[in-house]
Amino acid sequence: MDPKKKKSRYERIYKQLEELLPTSNDELARMSTIIAVLHHKMDYYFWTGYYFLKEGRLVVGPYQGPVACQELENDKGVCWAGVNRQEPVVVPDVEQFPGHIACDSRSQSEIVLPIRNRQREIIGVLDIDSDQRNAFDEVDRQQLSNILQLIYK
Ligand code: SME
Repeated sequence: MDPKKKKSRYERIYKQLEELLPTSNDELARMSTIIAVLHHKMDYYFWTGYYFLKEGRLVVGPYQGPVACQELENDKGVCWAGVNRQEPVVVPDVEQFPGHIACDSRSQSEIVLPIRNRQREIIGVLDIDSDQRNAFDEVDRQQLSNILQLIYK
């Protein structure tokens, strides 16, 4: 998608979420709404969801898209890379990422952003897969970081 079009679409989504989220303070409800809006507004998204850290494991949370792995093997793949590096990871071609975990063979590229709670502890990741190569870039990273701030606003 053209970077300008992408940015303005994210900005519209941000405004829509600013209106939708205040009807609940429940974090899981807010996270679920974010996923639903993103998944249905971004046509290059194929799988959109969370993996939460639970007792040292990454366990799937709310998501939209095809059925995904319920738990991810420790310290392997893109989601764990996001947790261990403590920063977003953009993967233009999943086949080139050593240890990538393919929950669905149609996924071609991926972005993972760690989620921090109010205490600034990482509680899991936002994970988005595309069925197109090279789908995610700096615009996605920046805009999705902004959107994630809305969970705890
Ligand atoms: N590809 C991820 C696994 C989760 S799925 O993409 C839904 C990974 O390598 O961690």
